[in-house]
Amino acid sequence: MYQTKIAGLGKYVPENVVTNDDLSKMMDTNDEWITERTGIKERRHIKKGDGNTTATMGVKAARIALERSGINKDEIDLIVFATLSPDYYFPGCGVQVQEMLDIKTCPALDVRNQCSGFIYAISVADQFIKTGMYKNILVIGSENHSGGLDFTTRGRSVSVIFGDGAGAAVLTRSDHNGQGILSTHLHSEGKHALELSLKGPSTNYWVPEIIADNPQGDDIPYYPYMNGQFVFKNAVQRFSEVINEGLEANGLEVSDIDMLIPHQANLRISQFIQQKFRLKDEQVYNNIQRYGNTTAASIPIALTEAWEEGKIDNEDVVVLAAFGSGFTWGSAIIKW
Ligand code: ACO
Repeated sequence: MYQTKIAGLGKYVPENVVTNDDLSKMMDTNDEWITERTGIKERRHIKKGDGNTTATMGVKAARIALERSGINKDEIDLIVFATLSPDYYFPGCGVQVQEMLDIKTCPALDVRNQCSGFIYAISVADQFIKTGMYKNILVIGSENHSGGLDFTTRGRSVSVIFGDGAGAAVLTRSDHNGQGILSTHLHSEGKHALELSLKGPSTNYWVPEIIADNPQGDDIPYYPYMNGQFVFKNAVQRFSEVINEGLEANGLEVSDIDMLIPHQANLRISQFIQQKFRLKDEQVYNNIQRYGNTTAASIPIALTEAWEEGKIDNEDVVVLAAFGSGFTWGSAIIKW
């Protein structure tokens, strides 16, 4: 059995910074409320005409990851693209990346697991590398949230949380046993699917039906719905479980964690986990203050920044953990 390591990381966020004060000019909200409940101070939003989409941001992050990996784009055997905000209803963004990066006719797979998307994506990539089927895999998480949020007061409990951006990792076969991805653990609980969801338009609820059902436009299914407190309670429980599950599977203790990179859902969730596991500030990486929640992009953006800032050393035990819509959750334990 082969093992998988991360050979290169990259990130891209749009230049356009949107502060809490900027949002308070669009809706009834304020910096104090957003900071206190979420920790977020600003996020990035695509600006019309800046050329950014979910796919193009993913490509920008991927180019950096590829360059840092030293692996040529033509050596990529598979693209795995995680997003909840694809450019098109179909096809998925993976094929756009194949075309934009001009990677022969390599397979492209799209992952639809929202905030857990990047962990699901690297888990899939890891299985292909472990079995020897593929050697080099480009994994991308990218989101264009701002294009689909309700920036009126009606949507404020959701729209202040999310931001745009992309992160990418090049995964490759490791030459050293015991180095790289040690394990991934994935879960889902579909009974809570609608607690954090965007219901339509879908083939089950298409545009004319939505318009007929909502003549006043008051209950709009094409904006995300989130039962915030319910999501919060489930998130802290599942984060803890799945981190412990990963550690136990590898015979590791909490004290072995050098760096925890939690999905950047809400600073309060990260702080709760940090306290529960009694981790020091330098053992947990957070950047939600600057980017908001970028869903499938949040872990690869944070991982890239932690690595760029020299916070991850060779041999470090790095733990990735995520929870999100589905509900889905997962963890990855990596020996750097
Ligand atoms: N600005 C000002 N006031 C607001 C805003 C806003 N942006 N949004 C909601 N409010 C108001 C509400 O209308 C409500 O007013 P009321 O008391 O007069 O009715 C009041 O603030 C409290 O609203 P709640 O929704 O009860 O606030 P809560 O303390 O639950 O915080 C939050 C909301 C931040 C979403 C919280 O529930 C949370 O963090 N949930 C976790 C979900 C999460 O992090 N999701 C991220 C995406 S999912 C994921 O990645 C896991």
